[in-house]
Amino acid sequence: MTNILIVNGSPRKGGNTDILTDTLLESALQGGANAEKIRLASVKVKPCLECGGCDETGECIIDDDGKELFEKIARSDVLVVASPIFFYNITSITQAMVERSQACWVSKYLLKRGPWGGKRRKGIFVSVGATKGKMLFDGVIRVMKYFFDAVDADYAGAMLYRNVEAKGAIRARQEAMEQMTELGRLLASEAELSGFDALER
Ligand SMILES: Cc1cc2nc3c(=O)[nH]c(=O)nc-3n(C[C@H](O)[C@H](O)[C@H](O)COP(=O)(O)O)c2cc1C
Repeated sequence: MTNILIVNGSPRKGGNTDILTDTLLESALQGGANAEKIRLASVKVKPCLECGGCDETGECIIDDDGKELFEKIARSDVLVVASPIFFYNITSITQAMVERSQACWVSKYLLKRGPWGGKRRKGIFVSVGATKGKMLFDGVIRVMKYFFDAVDADYAGAMLYRNVEAKGAIRARQEAMEQMTELGRLLASEAELSGFDALER
């Protein structure tokens, strides 16, 4: 059974990212996956303090919900991170999680340990933004690729939706809803994503 962890980094409850990730979650569960969604706005994950506490162990010493979050990431076969664009960036709560993967980076690159969590996983990014610019997602994709590398997730691609602003506006974008349903089905069945054209790699 595939373990799918979906992390929603939007602070807006019931917003576009929430709707997309709920659709994905529902479809993955229906497909028989072991899937869970976490709203970062509902947990407490502080940003990295650059305290060096992980330098010798590869373990973060901050005592907050980051510990459980990263334990769940470690168990996942597929990690989906979703964040709307805020000032051409991921949201600050998503960035806090990204920074906390520094302990994984230390484990991998300084301590030269094997795959983090004992296995590799797949990484998928989901994002929405209000504007239509061609380069809207360029910066965040770069960030997410570095994050996925730190947690030993092979970047599979991103589901990106431009021109989505009002709360719930994504519901009117039928193709987005269908793509999330299809993605959930594919992930649950452990199918190859190579032929899935909605993923911009
Ligand atoms: C603080 C803030 C900054 C934003 N910055 C951008 C931006 O730089 N580019 C953009 O296209 N949209 C920007 N947006 C719009 C959101 O990305 C958009 O409304 C999105 O649909 C919100 O998703 P959500 O409902 O999942 O939170 C911003 C919104 C907020 C609240």
